[in-house]
Amino acid sequence: MSSEKIIDGKLISSQIKNEVKEETQKLFSEKGIKPGLAFILVGDDPASQIYVRNKGRACEEIGFHSITNVLPETTEENELLELIHKYNHDKNIHGLLVQLPLPKHIDEERIIEAIDYKKDVDGFHPHNVGRLLTGHKCFIPCTPFGIVEMMKRYNIETKGKNVVIIGRSNIVGKPMASLFLRKDLNSTVTVCHSATRDIREFSLNADILVAAIGKPEFVKKEMIKDGAVIIDVGINRIEDKSSPKGTRLIGDVDFKDCYDKSSMITPVPGGVGLMTIAMLMRNTLDAASGKIF
Ligand code: GUN
Repeated sequence: MSSEKIIDGKLISSQIKNEVKEETQKLFSEKGIKPGLAFILVGDDPASQIYVRNKGRACEEIGFHSITNVLPETTEENELLELIHKYNHDKNIHGLLVQLPLPKHIDEERIIEAIDYKKDVDGFHPHNVGRLLTGHKCFIPCTPFGIVEMMKRYNIETKGKNVVIIGRSNIVGKPMASLFLRKDLNSTVTVCHSATRDIREFSLNADILVAAIGKPEFVKKEMIKDGAVIIDVGINRIEDKSSPKGTRLIGDVDFKDCYDKSSMITPVPGGVGLMTIAMLMRNTLDAASGKIF
């Protein structure tokens, strides 16, 4: 298997982080501004702990000021709201990220809406969601933003292409659909979800297929068209007795099965996942420099 077809998330994300690092140094030397990002993690979900830790490390590498708040699972909604209000008014904090999912007793919508949309580097606040849909300047959710960046840097044509997205989450599927619909990407978009009767009927027609459903190796070669571009958003941890950790990460696409039929494909790990963090860094820098709002 040659690597020509592989869309290298490691390479692109490190290019982006280097660009952000250079611009961060420039922002500091010219304007004395150091981008600040605050993380809030509620509870002890192991995957969320890893994500937040990795995001914090990226801030360090790039030269951002960052603070991580880890709150117990039993935290009341009002305590969380108070912390959000504190950061909304903190001049040294330009980006505020509340890691999802939140414990069930906390109203996620209320929390997201409490974040100042000018600091919403996740792009989840309705103000940013609405602006994304209408094609206006806004913070773009990091994972779909990262996918767009991959397409651009690999010169993958999107104009007039059939894009099929499997999954309709607020974090990936819906913002991804909005982005492909915008004039700059100009694609024809179909979104499949749990109530879609026959996903294959749509996926077979995809020039670009985005899999974001959280089902390990769901996409098989029988579901894709010859020469399709395959974007795998899945990060599924499965048991693997042969690996030292006893587990390993796999995507929503059966990579080995789909490789030959695809024209380009993202691996897991080493694909879309790394882009999410790189774009969070980009959004935070843009928040600090006032480029968006
Ligand atoms: N949970 C899974 N992905 C994300 C993300 O991009 N941002 C936040 N805040 N939570 C997540």
